[in-house]
Amino acid sequence: MTASTSTSTTTTTTTSTTTTGAPPRLMPLYGSDNLASHVAMHGAPPYPAAGHLVRLLADAGLRGHGGAGFPVHRKLAYVAEAGRRTGRKPVVVANGAESEPASAKDRTLLLRAPHLVLDGLQLAAAAVGADEAHLAVEAGTGLAAALQNAAAKRARAGLDRLTVEFTEVPRRFLSGESSALAEHLSGRAALPRYPQPPVRERGVGRAPTLVQNVETLAHLALIARYGAAWFRSVGTADEPGSMLCTVHIAGRRPEVVEAPLSAPLRRLLMLGQGDPVQAVLVGGYHGAWIPAAHALGLRLSDADLAPYGAAPGAGVLAALPADRCGLAETARVLRYLALQSAGQCGPCLNGLPRIAAAFTELARPGYPAGVREDIARWAGLVVGRGACHHPDGTVRLVRSALTAFAGEADAHAAGFCRATDQTPLLPLPEGN
Ligand SMILES: Cc1cc2nc3c(=O)[nH]c(=O)nc-3n(C[C@H](O)[C@H](O)[C@H](O)COP(=O)(O)O)c2cc1C
Ligand code: SF4
Repeated sequence: MTASTSTSTTTTTTTSTTTTGAPPRLMPLYGSDNLASHVAMHGAPPYPAAGHLVRLLADAGLRGHGGAGFPVHRKLAYVAEAGRRTGRKPVVVANGAESEPASAKDRTLLLRAPHLVLDGLQLAAAAVGADEAHLAVEAGTGLAAALQNAAAKRARAGLDRLTVEFTEVPRRFLSGESSALAEHLSGRAALPRYPQPPVRERGVGRAPTLVQNVETLAHLALIARYGAAWFRSVGTADEPGSMLCTVHIAGRRPEVVEAPLSAPLRRLLMLGQGDPVQAVLVGGYHGAWIPAAHALGLRLSDADLAPYGAAPGAGVLAALPADRCGLAETARVLRYLALQSAGQCGPCLNGLPRIAAAFTELARPGYPAGVREDIARWAGLVVGRGACHHPDGTVRLVRSALTAFAGEADAHAAGFCRATDQTPLLPLPEGN
Protein backbone atom coordinates (compact mmCIF):
# COMPACT_ATOMS: atom_id res chain seq x y z
CA MET A 1 0.00 0.00 0.00
CA THR A 2 1.15 3.53 -0.65
CA ALA A 3 -0.08 6.96 0.34
CA SER A 4 0.85 10.23 -1.32
CA THR A 5 1.76 13.28 0.71
CA SER A 6 2.14 16.69 -0.91
CA THR A 7 4.00 19.66 0.47
CA SER A 8 4.55 22.96 -1.30
CA THR A 9 8.03 21.89 -2.34
CA THR A 10 8.04 18.13 -2.77
CA THR A 11 5.62 15.37 -3.43
CA THR A 12 6.53 12.16 -1.73
CA THR A 13 5.09 8.72 -1.56
CA THR A 14 5.28 6.89 1.71
CA THR A 15 5.29 3.14 1.68
CA SER A 16 3.13 1.58 4.35
CA THR A 17 5.68 -1.12 4.99
CA THR A 18 9.44 -0.94 4.98
CA THR A 19 11.16 -2.27 1.93
CA THR A 20 12.47 -5.17 3.97
CA GLY A 21 9.15 -6.30 5.38
CA ALA A 22 9.51 -5.06 8.98
CA PRO A 23 6.39 -3.17 10.12
CA PRO A 24 6.58 0.65 9.94
CA ARG A 25 7.11 2.36 13.28
CA LEU A 26 7.09 6.07 12.60
CA MET A 27 4.50 6.49 9.90
CA PRO A 28 1.78 3.87 9.88
CA LEU A 29 -0.87 4.56 7.26
CA TYR A 30 -3.81 4.89 9.62
CA GLY A 31 -4.37 8.51 10.70
CA SER A 32 -1.72 9.19 13.31
CA ASP A 33 -2.00 12.86 12.30
CA ASN A 34 -5.30 12.76 14.21
CA LEU A 35 -4.90 13.24 17.99
CA ALA A 36 -7.66 10.83 19.01
CA SER A 37 -6.26 8.01 16.83
CA HIS A 38 -2.74 8.81 18.00
CA VAL A 39 -3.73 8.56 21.67
CA ALA A 40 -5.82 5.43 20.97
CA MET A 41 -2.79 3.86 19.30
CA HIS A 42 -0.03 4.92 21.70
CA GLY A 43 -1.60 6.41 24.82
CA ALA A 44 -0.60 9.76 26.35
CA PRO A 45 3.12 10.66 26.57
CA PRO A 46 4.55 8.57 29.46
CA TYR A 47 6.58 11.10 31.48
CA PRO A 48 9.22 8.96 33.22
CA ALA A 49 11.05 9.64 36.48
CA ALA A 50 14.19 11.81 36.19
CA GLY A 51 17.11 9.91 34.65
CA HIS A 52 14.97 7.00 33.47
CA LEU A 53 14.59 8.18 29.87
CA VAL A 54 18.33 8.79 29.51
CA ARG A 55 19.04 5.21 30.66
CA LEU A 56 16.35 3.85 28.34
CA LEU A 57 17.80 5.72 25.36
CA ALA A 58 21.29 4.46 26.21
CA ASP A 59 19.97 0.88 26.28
CA ALA A 60 18.10 1.42 23.01
CA GLY A 61 21.20 2.85 21.30
CA LEU A 62 19.21 5.66 19.63
CA ARG A 63 21.34 8.04 17.59
CA GLY A 64 20.39 11.34 15.96
CA HIS A 65 18.75 11.44 12.53
CA GLY A 66 19.72 15.00 11.57
CA GLY A 67 22.93 13.84 9.90
CA ALA A 68 25.71 13.34 12.44
CA GLY A 69 24.31 10.27 14.22
CA PHE A 70 25.30 11.44 17.72
CA PRO A 71 24.09 9.20 20.61
CA VAL A 72 20.92 10.83 21.96
CA HIS A 73 21.31 9.82 25.61
CA ARG A 74 24.70 11.55 25.83
CA LYS A 75 23.31 14.87 24.58
CA LEU A 76 20.34 14.69 26.95
CA ALA A 77 22.61 13.90 29.91
CA TYR A 78 24.98 16.74 28.98
CA VAL A 79 22.23 19.37 28.65
CA ALA A 80 20.56 18.30 31.92
CA GLU A 81 23.92 18.58 33.69
CA ALA A 82 24.73 21.95 32.05
CA GLY A 83 21.37 23.23 33.31
CA ARG A 84 22.19 22.18 36.88
CA ARG A 85 25.76 23.52 36.70
CA THR A 86 24.86 26.93 35.24
CA GLY A 87 21.61 27.39 37.14
CA ARG A 88 19.90 28.12 33.79
CA LYS A 89 16.82 26.11 32.79
CA PRO A 90 17.64 24.41 29.46
CA VAL A 91 15.80 25.01 26.18
CA VAL A 92 14.77 22.19 23.84
CA VAL A 93 14.53 22.62 20.07
CA ALA A 94 12.94 20.15 17.65
CA ASN A 95 14.82 20.60 14.38
CA GLY A 96 12.39 20.21 11.49
CA ALA A 97 14.19 22.70 9.24
CA GLU A 98 15.14 19.96 6.76
CA SER A 99 17.40 22.34 4.91
CA GLU A 100 18.92 19.56 2.77
CA PRO A 101 17.13 19.95 -0.61
CA ALA A 102 17.24 16.20 -1.34
CA SER A 103 15.51 15.23 1.91
CA ALA A 104 11.74 15.08 2.41
CA LYS A 105 11.51 12.72 5.36
CA ASP A 106 11.08 15.30 8.15
CA ARG A 107 8.32 17.15 6.31
CA THR A 108 6.59 13.85 5.60
CA LEU A 109 6.89 12.75 9.22
CA LEU A 110 5.55 16.07 10.53
CA LEU A 111 2.56 15.82 8.21
CA ARG A 112 1.86 12.15 8.86
CA ALA A 113 2.71 11.75 12.55
CA PRO A 114 3.00 15.21 14.17
CA HIS A 115 1.94 13.94 17.59
CA LEU A 116 4.82 11.48 17.82
CA VAL A 117 7.25 14.37 17.29
CA LEU A 118 5.38 16.60 19.75
CA ASP A 119 5.35 13.78 22.32
CA GLY A 120 9.10 13.35 21.85
CA LEU A 121 9.67 17.08 22.30
CA GLN A 122 7.70 17.12 25.56
CA LEU A 123 9.46 14.01 26.89
CA ALA A 124 12.93 15.32 26.00
CA ALA A 125 12.10 18.68 27.61
CA ALA A 126 10.99 16.94 30.81
CA ALA A 127 14.11 14.74 30.81
CA VAL A 128 16.51 17.72 30.71
CA GLY A 129 14.42 19.97 32.98
CA ALA A 130 13.70 22.52 30.22
CA ASP A 131 11.20 25.33 30.66
CA GLU A 132 11.12 26.38 26.98
CA ALA A 133 10.41 24.28 23.86
CA HIS A 134 10.60 25.20 20.17
CA LEU A 135 9.85 23.44 16.92
CA ALA A 136 11.48 24.95 13.83
CA VAL A 137 10.36 24.25 10.26
CA GLU A 138 11.27 25.69 6.89
CA ALA A 139 9.41 28.82 5.84
CA GLY A 140 6.87 28.48 3.05
CA THR A 141 5.95 24.83 3.72
CA GLY A 142 2.71 25.52 5.61
CA LEU A 143 3.91 23.15 8.31
CA ALA A 144 4.03 25.71 11.12
CA ALA A 145 0.28 26.43 10.87
CA ALA A 146 -0.61 22.71 10.74
CA LEU A 147 1.57 22.00 13.77
CA GLN A 148 0.16 24.93 15.71
CA ASN A 149 -3.27 23.47 15.10
CA ALA A 150 -2.12 20.06 16.35
CA ALA A 151 -0.57 21.68 19.47
CA ALA A 152 -3.81 23.55 20.23
CA LYS A 153 -5.70 20.22 20.26
CA ARG A 154 -3.09 18.74 22.59
CA ALA A 155 -3.41 21.75 24.92
CA ARG A 156 -7.19 21.23 25.07
CA ALA A 157 -6.58 17.54 25.90
CA GLY A 158 -4.10 18.52 28.64
CA LEU A 159 -1.32 16.34 27.17
CA ASP A 160 1.59 18.75 27.32
CA ARG A 161 3.63 20.22 30.14
CA LEU A 162 5.20 23.01 28.07
CA THR A 163 3.79 25.34 25.44
CA VAL A 164 5.70 24.88 22.19
CA GLU A 165 6.77 27.89 20.10
CA PHE A 166 6.63 27.20 16.36
CA THR A 167 9.12 29.06 14.20
CA GLU A 168 9.82 29.24 10.47
CA VAL A 169 13.45 29.42 9.38
CA PRO A 170 14.66 30.79 6.03
CA ARG A 171 15.02 28.32 3.17
CA ARG A 172 18.81 28.00 3.19
CA PHE A 173 21.10 25.00 3.52
CA LEU A 174 22.65 26.35 6.72
CA SER A 175 19.38 27.19 8.50
CA GLY A 176 19.13 23.71 10.03
CA GLU A 177 22.63 23.72 11.51
CA SER A 178 22.18 23.71 15.28
CA SER A 179 23.98 26.97 16.09
CA ALA A 180 22.25 28.74 13.16
CA LEU A 181 18.94 27.56 14.56
CA ALA A 182 19.86 28.77 18.06
CA GLU A 183 20.85 32.14 16.62
CA HIS A 184 17.55 32.46 14.77
CA LEU A 185 15.56 31.53 17.87
CA SER A 186 17.54 34.15 19.82
CA GLY A 187 16.39 36.85 17.40
CA ARG A 188 19.45 36.97 15.13
CA ALA A 189 20.17 35.82 11.55
CA ALA A 190 19.95 32.04 10.97
CA LEU A 191 23.69 31.62 10.43
CA PRO A 192 26.16 29.32 12.18
CA ARG A 193 27.62 31.08 15.19
CA TYR A 194 31.29 31.94 14.96
CA PRO A 195 33.26 31.63 17.21
CA GLN A 196 30.98 29.28 19.08
CA PRO A 197 30.63 27.55 22.39
CA PRO A 198 28.46 24.51 21.56
CA VAL A 199 24.71 25.12 21.79
CA ARG A 200 24.40 22.34 24.36
CA GLU A 201 26.41 24.68 26.62
CA ARG A 202 25.10 28.06 25.45
CA GLY A 203 22.32 28.17 22.85
CA VAL A 204 18.91 29.86 22.68
CA GLY A 205 18.97 32.98 24.90
CA ARG A 206 22.41 31.76 26.15
CA ALA A 207 20.78 28.81 27.98
CA PRO A 208 22.02 25.21 27.58
CA THR A 209 20.08 23.97 24.55
CA LEU A 210 19.15 20.51 23.34
CA VAL A 211 18.68 20.43 19.55
CA GLN A 212 17.27 17.16 18.22
CA ASN A 213 16.06 16.30 14.77
CA VAL A 214 12.29 15.71 14.60
CA GLU A 215 12.71 12.09 13.49
CA THR A 216 14.98 11.48 16.47
CA LEU A 217 12.24 12.82 18.77
CA ALA A 218 9.62 10.55 17.18
CA HIS A 219 11.83 7.50 17.83
CA LEU A 220 12.35 8.76 21.40
CA ALA A 221 8.57 8.95 21.92
CA LEU A 222 8.20 5.32 20.83
CA ILE A 223 11.13 4.07 22.91
CA ALA A 224 9.65 5.80 26.00
CA ARG A 225 6.51 3.70 25.50
CA TYR A 226 7.70 0.40 24.10
CA GLY A 227 11.23 0.13 25.51
CA ALA A 228 14.77 -0.53 24.38
CA ALA A 229 14.27 -4.21 23.47
CA TRP A 230 11.39 -3.28 21.16
CA PHE A 231 13.55 -0.63 19.43
CA ARG A 232 16.37 -3.17 19.04
CA SER A 233 14.09 -5.79 17.52
CA VAL A 234 15.06 -4.45 14.06
CA GLY A 235 18.50 -3.41 12.81
CA THR A 236 21.67 -4.92 14.24
CA ALA A 237 23.15 -5.07 17.74
CA ASP A 238 25.61 -2.28 16.88
CA GLU A 239 23.21 -0.22 14.76
CA PRO A 240 19.70 -0.86 16.06
CA GLY A 241 16.33 0.48 14.98
CA SER A 242 14.88 1.92 11.82
CA MET A 243 15.21 5.19 9.94
CA LEU A 244 13.43 7.26 7.33
CA CYS A 245 15.09 7.59 3.95
CA THR A 246 14.34 9.81 0.96
CA VAL A 247 15.00 7.75 -2.16
CA HIS A 248 15.65 9.37 -5.55
CA ILE A 249 15.31 7.25 -8.66
CA ALA A 250 15.43 8.88 -12.11
CA GLY A 251 12.02 9.38 -13.66
CA ARG A 252 10.12 8.83 -10.40
CA ARG A 253 8.98 11.10 -7.61
CA PRO A 254 11.18 11.05 -4.51
CA GLU A 255 9.90 8.47 -2.08
CA VAL A 256 10.13 8.43 1.71
CA VAL A 257 10.52 4.94 3.14
CA GLU A 258 11.16 3.61 6.63
CA ALA A 259 13.88 0.97 6.69
CA PRO A 260 15.66 -1.01 9.38
CA LEU A 261 19.30 -0.07 9.83
CA SER A 262 21.31 -2.59 7.78
CA ALA A 263 18.69 -2.86 4.99
CA PRO A 264 20.37 -3.63 1.64
CA LEU A 265 20.79 -0.47 -0.49
CA ARG A 266 19.86 -2.47 -3.57
CA ARG A 267 16.43 -3.17 -2.12
CA LEU A 268 15.91 0.40 -0.89
CA LEU A 269 16.73 1.70 -4.35
CA MET A 270 14.50 -0.95 -5.90
CA LEU A 271 17.28 -2.02 -8.24
CA GLY A 272 17.73 -5.36 -9.93
CA GLN A 273 20.89 -7.01 -11.25
CA GLY A 274 22.01 -5.22 -14.41
CA ASP A 275 19.92 -2.07 -13.86
CA PRO A 276 21.79 0.78 -15.60
CA VAL A 277 22.98 2.70 -12.53
CA GLN A 278 26.53 4.02 -12.28
CA ALA A 279 26.72 5.45 -8.75
CA VAL A 280 24.68 6.05 -5.60
CA LEU A 281 24.76 9.25 -3.55
CA VAL A 282 24.49 8.30 0.11
CA GLY A 283 23.76 10.82 2.88
CA GLY A 284 22.84 13.90 0.83
CA TYR A 285 24.84 16.93 -0.31
CA HIS A 286 27.31 16.51 2.53
CA GLY A 287 27.42 12.79 1.73
CA ALA A 288 29.40 10.67 -0.71
CA TRP A 289 29.07 9.10 -4.15
CA ILE A 290 29.76 5.36 -4.19
CA PRO A 291 30.21 3.53 -7.53
CA ALA A 292 27.22 1.25 -8.14
CA ALA A 293 29.42 -1.84 -8.38
CA HIS A 294 30.20 -1.37 -4.68
CA ALA A 295 27.07 0.43 -3.43
CA LEU A 296 24.60 -2.20 -4.50
CA GLY A 297 26.36 -4.79 -2.34
CA LEU A 298 26.26 -2.56 0.75
CA ARG A 299 23.79 -2.15 3.60
CA LEU A 300 22.38 0.98 5.18
CA SER A 301 24.86 1.01 8.06
CA ASP A 302 27.92 2.90 9.26
CA ALA A 303 29.88 -0.35 9.24
CA ASP A 304 29.28 -0.93 5.52
CA LEU A 305 29.42 2.70 4.39
CA ALA A 306 32.36 4.06 6.43
CA PRO A 307 35.05 2.51 4.17
CA TYR A 308 33.58 4.65 1.35
CA GLY A 309 33.59 7.83 3.44
CA ALA A 310 29.79 7.66 3.70
CA ALA A 311 27.19 7.22 6.46
CA PRO A 312 23.40 6.78 6.51
CA GLY A 313 23.23 10.42 7.76
CA ALA A 314 19.81 11.94 7.24
CA GLY A 315 18.84 9.09 4.92
CA VAL A 316 19.18 10.55 1.41
CA LEU A 317 19.81 7.94 -1.30
CA ALA A 318 20.00 8.77 -5.01
CA ALA A 319 20.75 6.36 -7.87
CA LEU A 320 22.52 8.03 -10.80
CA PRO A 321 21.64 6.32 -14.10
CA ALA A 322 24.48 5.18 -16.36
CA ASP A 323 23.55 7.67 -19.07
CA ARG A 324 24.02 10.80 -16.89
CA CYS A 325 27.20 12.76 -16.11
CA GLY A 326 28.14 12.46 -12.44
CA LEU A 327 30.55 15.39 -12.77
CA ALA A 328 27.84 17.71 -14.12
CA GLU A 329 25.46 16.53 -11.38
CA THR A 330 28.08 17.21 -8.68
CA ALA A 331 29.05 20.59 -10.18
CA ARG A 332 25.41 21.79 -9.93
CA VAL A 333 25.23 20.81 -6.28
CA LEU A 334 28.62 22.38 -5.51
CA ARG A 335 27.62 25.70 -7.05
CA TYR A 336 24.57 25.65 -4.78
CA LEU A 337 26.59 24.69 -1.68
CA ALA A 338 29.21 27.39 -2.32
CA LEU A 339 26.44 30.00 -2.50
CA GLN A 340 24.91 28.81 0.77
CA SER A 341 27.94 29.58 2.90
CA ALA A 342 27.64 32.36 5.43
CA GLY A 343 31.01 33.71 4.25
CA GLN A 344 32.16 34.15 7.84
CA CYS A 345 35.35 32.10 7.57
CA GLY A 346 38.10 31.72 4.98
CA PRO A 347 37.29 28.19 3.71
CA CYS A 348 33.79 29.27 2.71
CA LEU A 349 34.71 32.74 1.52
CA ASN A 350 37.61 31.70 -0.70
CA GLY A 351 37.75 27.92 -0.94
CA LEU A 352 34.25 26.69 -1.79
CA PRO A 353 33.56 29.16 -4.66
CA ARG A 354 36.93 28.24 -6.22
CA ILE A 355 36.28 24.52 -5.89
CA ALA A 356 32.77 24.92 -7.34
CA ALA A 357 34.09 26.96 -10.30
CA ALA A 358 36.86 24.44 -11.01
CA PHE A 359 34.39 21.55 -10.76
CA THR A 360 32.18 23.33 -13.30
CA GLU A 361 35.20 23.34 -15.65
CA LEU A 362 35.83 19.65 -14.93
CA ALA A 363 32.24 18.91 -15.89
CA ARG A 364 32.91 20.23 -19.43
CA PRO A 365 34.70 18.09 -22.02
CA GLY A 366 38.14 19.49 -22.85
CA TYR A 367 38.76 21.13 -19.45
CA PRO A 368 42.18 22.76 -18.99
CA ALA A 369 45.08 20.65 -17.66
CA GLY A 370 45.59 20.77 -13.89
CA VAL A 371 41.93 21.29 -12.91
CA ARG A 372 41.60 17.94 -11.17
CA GLU A 373 44.79 18.55 -9.22
CA ASP A 374 43.66 22.08 -8.26
CA ILE A 375 40.36 20.75 -6.90
CA ALA A 376 42.11 18.06 -4.86
CA ARG A 377 44.60 20.61 -3.46
CA TRP A 378 41.98 23.21 -2.55
CA ALA A 379 39.82 20.53 -0.94
CA GLY A 380 42.78 19.70 1.32
CA LEU A 381 43.16 23.37 2.23
CA VAL A 382 39.57 23.98 3.38
CA VAL A 383 38.87 20.76 5.23
CA GLY A 384 38.79 21.12 9.03
CA ARG A 385 39.17 24.91 8.83
CA GLY A 386 35.58 26.14 9.08
CA ALA A 387 33.69 27.15 12.18
CA CYS A 388 30.98 24.66 11.20
CA HIS A 389 30.98 21.43 9.18
CA HIS A 390 29.85 23.01 5.91
CA PRO A 391 33.30 22.98 4.26
CA ASP A 392 34.05 19.44 5.50
CA GLY A 393 30.73 18.07 4.24
CA THR A 394 31.23 19.77 0.88
CA VAL A 395 34.75 18.35 0.56
CA ARG A 396 33.39 14.87 1.30
CA LEU A 397 31.12 15.18 -1.73
CA VAL A 398 33.97 16.58 -3.89
CA ARG A 399 36.43 13.84 -3.01
CA SER A 400 33.93 11.05 -3.51
CA ALA A 401 32.96 12.47 -6.93
CA LEU A 402 36.62 12.65 -8.02
CA THR A 403 36.94 8.94 -7.20
CA ALA A 404 33.54 7.64 -8.35
CA PHE A 405 33.63 9.60 -11.63
CA ALA A 406 37.36 9.30 -12.39
CA GLY A 407 36.52 7.51 -15.67
CA GLU A 408 34.20 10.36 -16.70
CA ALA A 409 36.92 12.89 -15.81
CA ASP A 410 39.35 10.98 -18.07
CA ALA A 411 36.77 11.10 -20.86
CA HIS A 412 36.28 14.86 -20.36
CA ALA A 413 40.08 15.33 -20.44
CA ALA A 414 40.09 13.56 -23.80
CA GLY A 415 37.41 15.98 -25.02
CA PHE A 416 34.16 14.01 -24.82
CA CYS A 417 31.37 13.22 -22.37
CA ARG A 418 29.85 9.74 -22.15
CA ALA A 419 26.47 10.99 -20.91
CA THR A 420 23.56 10.94 -23.34
CA ASP A 421 20.90 12.39 -21.02
CA GLN A 422 21.43 15.81 -19.44
CA THR A 423 18.31 15.71 -17.21
CA PRO A 424 19.31 16.65 -13.62
CA LEU A 425 18.64 13.99 -10.99
CA LEU A 426 19.30 15.82 -7.73
CA PRO A 427 16.79 18.50 -6.65
CA LEU A 428 17.81 22.08 -5.90
CA PRO A 429 15.61 24.94 -4.70
CA GLU A 430 14.23 27.11 -7.49
CA GLY A 431 16.69 29.65 -8.83
CA ASN A 432 19.76 27.37 -8.40
C1 LIG B 1 25.17 22.74 7.25
C2 LIG B 1 24.34 21.90 8.18
C3 LIG B 1 22.97 21.85 7.99
C4 LIG B 1 22.18 21.08 8.87
N1 LIG B 1 20.82 21.01 8.63
C5 LIG B 1 20.05 20.24 9.46
C6 LIG B 1 18.64 20.14 9.26
O1 LIG B 1 18.08 20.75 8.32
N2 LIG B 1 17.92 19.37 10.11
C7 LIG B 1 18.51 18.69 11.16
O2 LIG B 1 17.81 18.01 11.92
N3 LIG B 1 19.84 18.76 11.37
C8 LIG B 1 20.62 19.52 10.55
N4 LIG B 1 21.97 19.61 10.79
C9 LIG B 1 22.51 18.93 11.97
C10 LIG B 1 22.29 19.83 13.21
O3 LIG B 1 23.37 20.74 13.32
C11 LIG B 1 22.21 19.00 14.49
O4 LIG B 1 23.36 18.19 14.57
C12 LIG B 1 20.99 18.11 14.56
O5 LIG B 1 19.78 18.84 14.38
C13 LIG B 1 20.96 17.41 15.92
O6 LIG B 1 19.87 16.51 15.99
P1 LIG B 1 20.09 14.93 16.06
O7 LIG B 1 21.19 14.69 17.06
O8 LIG B 1 18.76 14.43 16.49
O9 LIG B 1 20.49 14.48 14.69
C14 LIG B 1 22.78 20.36 9.93
C15 LIG B 1 24.17 20.44 10.11
C16 LIG B 1 24.94 21.18 9.23
C17 LIG B 1 26.43 21.23 9.44
S1 SF4 C 1 32.47 27.33 7.87
FE1 SF4 C 1 31.33 28.42 6.30
S2 SF4 C 1 29.20 28.03 6.72
FE2 SF4 C 1 30.35 27.44 8.54
S3 SF4 C 1 30.34 29.30 9.84
FE3 SF4 C 1 32.20 29.42 8.60
S4 SF4 C 1 31.58 30.59 6.78
FE4 SF4 C 1 29.73 29.92 7.79
